[in-house]
Amino acid sequence: MRIIMLGPPGAGKGTQARKIAEEFHIPQISTGDIFRRAVEENTAMGKKAKEYMDSGMLVPDDIVVGIVEERLNKPDADAGFVLDGFPRTLYQAERLEQILEKKGVHIDAVINILVQRETVIERFTGRRVCQVCGASYHIKYNPPKKPGVCDACGNKLITRHDDELETVKKRLEEYEQKTSPLIEFYKSRHLLIDIDGNKPIDEVNKSIVDVLRGETK
Ligand code: AP5
Repeated sequence: MRIIMLGPPGAGKGTQARKIAEEFHIPQISTGDIFRRAVEENTAMGKKAKEYMDSGMLVPDDIVVGIVEERLNKPDADAGFVLDGFPRTLYQAERLEQILEKKGVHIDAVINILVQRETVIERFTGRRVCQVCGASYHIKYNPPKKPGVCDACGNKLITRHDDELETVKKRLEEYEQKTSPLIEFYKSRHLLIDIDGNKPIDEVNKSIVDVLRGETK
């Protein structure tokens, strides 16, 4: 199964992508996590990406597409994947179609998580993430078993640099301008599935899994 997660920053894409990956035994491919790891490791690509991420802007398309293509060519993506945070522009979406066409495969569904703006702001303020495995928590809605420690790998949880209010505003603006046109793009391809993301995490997950079990082509 090949899935794309769509939705504004804070909608719950990463949280749900992780669950979908477990449920369907496919890798979660998160461009945000790939960039954060590169920043952490201080690679040349990480240094470049950091400039954009810290100001809430999208990383340039040419950097992102190359990284995703390389990742999709790894053998674990042959049986499917869930893309979390990619594509984010029409250019990226078109390039993804070309990459998949070359491989003779196609996207099965695009999960569009709908959330209210106030919900999103509250989610950012309480978010804590694992620097090592990328798992995402919320101090109120999805707390780790032990405060400040990742359930999955036992490493320390941190607040993301780009979760500061001013940066969040810029990220939401970037979403509106550059990413939201993808809704029409995937609607026209009959792939878009709207999901109410305002409900609790497990309820949102159930809606997604139910629809994917019925929708997979
Ligand atoms: P990225 O990491 O992809 O960030 P994002 O899209 O802005 O999304 P978030 O990770 O903030 O939110 P999410 O929807 O995954 O929500 P989450 O599940 O964590 O990208 C970061 C940056 O990298 C970008 O700004 C850009 O610079 C760059 N980048 C990445 N990809 C790129 C691309 N393709 N092109 C160009 N640049 C790119 O949930 C949020 C919080 O809410 C958590 O605390 C969670 O526990 C909680 N929560 C989740 N669901 C619920 C629920 N149902 N109820 C209550 N709480 C919930």
